[in-house]
Amino acid sequence: MARIGILTGGGDCPGLNAVIRAVVRKGVNRYGHAIVGYRDGWRGVLNNQRMNLTPDNTSGILHRGGTILGSSRTNPFKEERGVERVKASLTEERIDCLIAVGGEDTLGVADKLHSEGVHVVGVPKTIDNDLSATDFTFGFNTAVQICTDAIDRLHSTAESHNRVMVVEVMGRHAGWIATYAGIAGGGDSILVPERPFDIEGVCEHIRHRHQAGRTFSIVVVAEGAVPLETSDVVASEESTDSFGHVRLGGIGVMLEKEIEKRTGYETRATILGHIQRGGTPTAFDRVLATRFGIAAIDCASDDDYGKMVSLRGADIKRVSLSDAVGTLKTVDPGLYETAQVFFG
Ligand code: F6P
Repeated sequence: MARIGILTGGGDCPGLNAVIRAVVRKGVNRYGHAIVGYRDGWRGVLNNQRMNLTPDNTSGILHRGGTILGSSRTNPFKEERGVERVKASLTEERIDCLIAVGGEDTLGVADKLHSEGVHVVGVPKTIDNDLSATDFTFGFNTAVQICTDAIDRLHSTAESHNRVMVVEVMGRHAGWIATYAGIAGGGDSILVPERPFDIEGVCEHIRHRHQAGRTFSIVVVAEGAVPLETSDVVASEESTDSFGHVRLGGIGVMLEKEIEKRTGYETRATILGHIQRGGTPTAFDRVLATRFGIAAIDCASDDDYGKMVSLRGADIKRVSLSDAVGTLKTVDPGLYETAQVFFG
């Protein structure tokens, strides 16, 4: 019997509650552990804000979006005596191992704390799917489905009005959502952070389609895509969060104006924003999150610290946290080439 902590950090993501439920169900019922849930990511550990998690108070949450624990982008390494306070808080609660559920930032903190002697296990979460050492993160599948549904809807109105539709999706450093949803939704141009793009080239694709008799076009753009002309991302705010990220947003509107000006075709932009992160997870994400939760509590129970559970092919494996957070996983060039066959 051990005392296991769990936190959810960074942007929320469909499937977080499925991980929490799985950790608690197996942790309590099979191992006889006590599970302590920290509120609002690393902030809850810093301030020792927590709740006891039981099979009873985590039942009925499998299908719910968001996280019952709350989340934040608090970075203990940017807080006064942050590491010391994290250690003191975990010692006070007699936590044997902390399960951190998060993306590159949250797990980056977990990895650094591990080198400081803190017992941690990581679970990969991000709708962006840009975490290394795992084939997929949970939340990504749900986000792609939401974007695909939106693109399908935009198709019919684009067709009725002979318009170009620009769809801005999330994806700060990697264009996984744009590429998957673009392929699934039949995007005529897909713009991703990995490949700075030429606006004139995008307009050429659209003109080419129209010359070939098509009356509408769909452009899918990741929020972190970079126009060659400015070689910078489009940010909606200058200030950065505690991990140094600016708030992205606006590339879709910028493209809307440029495409209409350069081609003369009526153009509209849609920004899907946080709709992509909200609501119920797909069955795929519920299953993946459940498998990750079970693997994480097994890993913690084996005292196998400094690891992240990961999807490799069809199997769940343990990998080193440092392998997961060292570099970002960007879009596979082969996959992008598949998408390109359908451009223009
Ligand atoms: O990290 C995932 C993500 O969805 C990014 O694609 C996006 O830039 C960011 O979260 C926005 O999150 P928030 O509005 O919570 O800062």
